[in-house]
Amino acid sequence: ARRVRVHHLREMKERGEAWPMLTAYDMYTAKIFDQAGIPVLLVGDSAANNVYGYESSLPVSTEEMLPLVRAVTRSASRALVVADLPFGSYQASPEQALTTAVRMMKEGRAHAVKLEGGSRFAPQVEALTSAGIPVMGHIGFTPQSEHGLGGYRVQGRGASADALVADALALEAAGAFAVVLEMVPAEVAKRVTAELAIPTVGIGAGPDCDAQVLVWQDMAGLNQGRSPRFVKRYADVAGVLSQAASEFAADVRGGSFPAEEHSFH
Ligand code: KIV
Ligand code: NA
Repeated sequence: ARRVRVHHLREMKERGEAWPMLTAYDMYTAKIFDQAGIPVLLVGDSAANNVYGYESSLPVSTEEMLPLVRAVTRSASRALVVADLPFGSYQASPEQALTTAVRMMKEGRAHAVKLEGGSRFAPQVEALTSAGIPVMGHIGFTPQSEHGLGGYRVQGRGASADALVADALALEAAGAFAVVLEMVPAEVAKRVTAELAIPTVGIGAGPDCDAQVLVWQDMAGLNQGRSPRFVKRYADVAGVLSQAASEFAADVRGGSFPAEEHSFH
């Protein structure tokens, strides 16, 4: 099948076809999700927590993201691959954003980038789209601003709903091809989705977004920790791996691995 392009996502919105997005950070997951028909893969800065073991997304660097982006773009033959711009790599200026985004495109071979923030980051979005780099926006709860927002809290409640809609419209006007809405009341996400021509991608934003995204380790149950309300666990990958490791350990300790069929003579 041919590569998914940003115009395909917009066409799906026009047809009212909801589409799924998952994170991926390495070869096997990228291949499996690509072959499962996931049209958009996100190399999220959630790699900070889910690959590198940091306590939040703030510490991860562009240098740490690039090899993961490269692995995913090398492995997915159909999905559109979006690379997150890490905290501190685009906020200073449109020039800084362009420098980082160009690295994601040239060194990572990404097909698009994502950055967090609303109308204040419209100049960054414009700089990138002018350079031919597709940009996905991300508003609502933005994990890179965790400390500024006072923790993991739903955004856009009550009077702040209008500001959220204005941010989404500003990103669209700046040329974004889609916008992630994270931890936003379902009613507000529905309103944003209706007002935008570009697709909305929800995470904790109710059923009326054009697309839905989850971190794969949450979706597949590799992460056994407490997960937020918006996560649905579709498998117990942690349980499967734990069982496999325990059986391997028991076989080695008991002398039943390797057996004759695993040995050379
Ligand atoms: O980094 C990430 O995984 C994300 C998605 C959850 C939208 O930004
Ligand atoms: Na992210």
